[in-house]
Amino acid sequence: SGFPFLIKSGLSKLGISRGMLEFLFKWIDAPKDYPKIPEAKGAISAIRSEAFFVPLYELFLTYGGIFRLTFGPKSFLIVSDPSIAKHILRDNSKAYSKGILAEILEFVMGKGLIPADGEIWRVRRRAIVPALHQKYVAAMISLFGKATDRLCQKLDAAASNGEDVEMESLFSRLTLDIIGKALFNYDFDSLTNDTGIVEAVYTVLREAEDRSVAPLPYWDIPIFKDISPQQKRVTAALKLINETLDDLIAMCKRMVEEEELQFHEEYINEQDPSILHFLLASGDDVSSKQLRDDLMTMLIAGHETSAAVLTWTFYLLSKEPSVMSKLQNEVDSVLGDRFPTIEDMKKLKYTTRVINESLRLYPQPPVLIRRSLEDDILGKYPIKRDEDIFISVWNLHRCPNHWEDADKFNPERWPLDGPNPNETNQNFSYLPFGGGPRKCVGDMFATFENVVAVTMLVRRFNFQLALGAPPVEMTTGATIHTTQGLKMTVTRRMEPPIMPELVMPILKVASASVSEVDPAV
Ligand code: HEM
Repeated sequence: SGFPFLIKSGLSKLGISRGMLEFLFKWIDAPKDYPKIPEAKGAISAIRSEAFFVPLYELFLTYGGIFRLTFGPKSFLIVSDPSIAKHILRDNSKAYSKGILAEILEFVMGKGLIPADGEIWRVRRRAIVPALHQKYVAAMISLFGKATDRLCQKLDAAASNGEDVEMESLFSRLTLDIIGKALFNYDFDSLTNDTGIVEAVYTVLREAEDRSVAPLPYWDIPIFKDISPQQKRVTAALKLINETLDDLIAMCKRMVEEEELQFHEEYINEQDPSILHFLLASGDDVSSKQLRDDLMTMLIAGHETSAAVLTWTFYLLSKEPSVMSKLQNEVDSVLGDRFPTIEDMKKLKYTTRVINESLRLYPQPPVLIRRSLEDDILGKYPIKRDEDIFISVWNLHRCPNHWEDADKFNPERWPLDGPNPNETNQNFSYLPFGGGPRKCVGDMFATFENVVAVTMLVRRFNFQLALGAPPVEMTTGATIHTTQGLKMTVTRRMEPPIMPELVMPILKVASASVSEVDPAV
């Protein structure tokens, strides 16, 4: 602190590297008795790879649960230790902000719930969490079913025509259709149509992903911003989305004004059960800009993540036929030919474990981003304010000391009669939805959405990687994507559907008599 500190931070702002500064200032503020965070050296080129969290795993095995990565003037702390993750996310969460994440996402999420910090975040979180109440989530189950049914019809046509399908883009459209209805009662219908608004959403999403992996903030360069065709497209797309959201907000306001319903804790409007409707009916006193920011945030948060979970779940299932047949057995016996209901969610235990395990192997997003707002101590290491920190959920979820056969897709690792694994009962070794005050608000919504989609799809079809499909490799934006899609061959299931018990004996008699008449059957 004091004068040397001022000079040091001044020099650092001029771009002098941290390594150089530490060398120059060693004689002034040598960290007397404190141990120094291990520094990963000569590894920068490795991080340039497409899926940057993979080389971070190797570095974790070498340097341990916390280490520093330095790129010129920039440096990051990489955390892969559950107790340090718990400290940052939960026990001392007030000392951390979203840092770089907020900077990158500002253009699309503004001060929405994911990037927001401090008072804005507190107020918005308190307004939004009640909207995702039990009755709302239950109402969403039938929406998940209807949307998945549309996907099934598409797959059915592909199966008839013997065409392979690219599942990653279909899952992206499925979850976009779902989240549009769930948030603001808008039917993107992206599984059937490519309207301007769907195009606009994808333009903005791609831009967010490009920005999150860009080495330089090119979008801030004044002239580039105005002449780059891509930036112009982004600006136009944002304008269209904002206008659409403004219209939806205005329409919903009118509906709320006209309705007779009294607002209460588990309020829900049957015609429009959306989160927007709840927020407006609750008298949420908020600017349209803030409301739009929150809706945009949830649109992205709820769309990309779920699409990625479904993509990697089907990839994993295609590699483990024994898990797939256990899954199909459970679905056959619990659901038969019905659409899933909220009561089924408790019964579909193995399906839930499949999702839990898919989220362990492919956490979405694979790293959580924070910045220290004050000096703190991580494990045994003191850190300064303004440190950028990546908590590698990927590393936590694949730590070889913690998990038996860490890389194996093994839903059985959590007993069916035990609790659903979460960050609390797994003591921050498993963080599929984050933890502490910034934990995901859509965890139950998303889990049920994935359970409904998986059950309905595997009930009707078998899925295999298509012959001659490109290898399934990872790349990163905000979530883990495939590099070249997930091309699958979909076939209708040949197994006789399991009928509800009452119908069974009749059916048996009928088939027995058929075979008596015609010995060829
Ligand atoms: C936050 C994961 C679906 C809304 C988070 C975080 C994670 C996460 C890990 C914590 C981020 C951090 O600490 O930096 C997931 C996964 C999903 C999913 C894996 C799907 C499988 C959803 C859905 C919604 C949603 C469907 C909305 C309906 C949010 C919001 C936050 C958040 C608003 C920020 C909460 C805050 O900062 O207070 N999500 N999410 N998520 N998620 Fe989700």
